[in-house]
Amino acid sequence: MKSLYLSADKKISSQSLFEFDQEAYPQSHWRVNDFESELSYGHLLCAIDEAQNLGGILLFRVMEDSSDLMHLSVLAKRQGWGQKLMKFYFEQLKSHYPRVERVMLEVKVNNLAAMSLYTSMGFCKLQERQGYYPDGKSAFVLEKWLTKR
Ligand SMILES: CC(C)(COP(=O)(O)OP(=O)(O)OC[C@H]1O[C@@H](n2cnc3c(N)ncnc32)[C@H](O)[C@@H]1OP(=O)(O)O)[C@@H](O)C(=O)NCCC(=O)NCCS
Repeated sequence: MKSLYLSADKKISSQSLFEFDQEAYPQSHWRVNDFESELSYGHLLCAIDEAQNLGGILLFRVMEDSSDLMHLSVLAKRQGWGQKLMKFYFEQLKSHYPRVERVMLEVKVNNLAAMSLYTSMGFCKLQERQGYYPDGKSAFVLEKWLTKR
């Protein structure tokens, strides 16, 4: 596998993010306009190789003391890049948004890879949202507290 590095300031078009996501996550319901609004309202972290090709993306939003992980996908699976992007996300929150105490996300109930990644990183189930996704599948809402409670 090519070596990748993590970046918090890479400029990428919504179309390129969409094309990457289709390859990394063919079941994704995200469309170009979803990436467009995330680029306007949220923040993008990525894993890129030396030729500037994308290997992984993570999009998040920050609202006062809480952050939502909006999207995560990696091209080469099970090589640690999902976990590395998540750790990078927490580092970014700590250094740029120190007020953030809690991270929340939604994940499809049958997405075992993502569920395993998130639970291995300390996320806990908060609730289930029935029929949350366009295909009718339900979502688990997960949360992780960054500060001791
Ligand atoms: C979910 C996803 C981001 C995980 O990224 P990844 O780079 O493959 O995962 P990592 O290699 O960092 O794995 C870290 C840990 O997560 C868990 N994990 C990841 N993939 C797994 C799988 N297919 N089955 C079981 N556990 C898995 C394991 O605990 C793993 O640790 P280990 O390899 O030491 O056992 C990746 O599968 C992906 O891009 N999927 C498509 C997009 C998606 O589903 N995004 C989530 C939307 S909410």
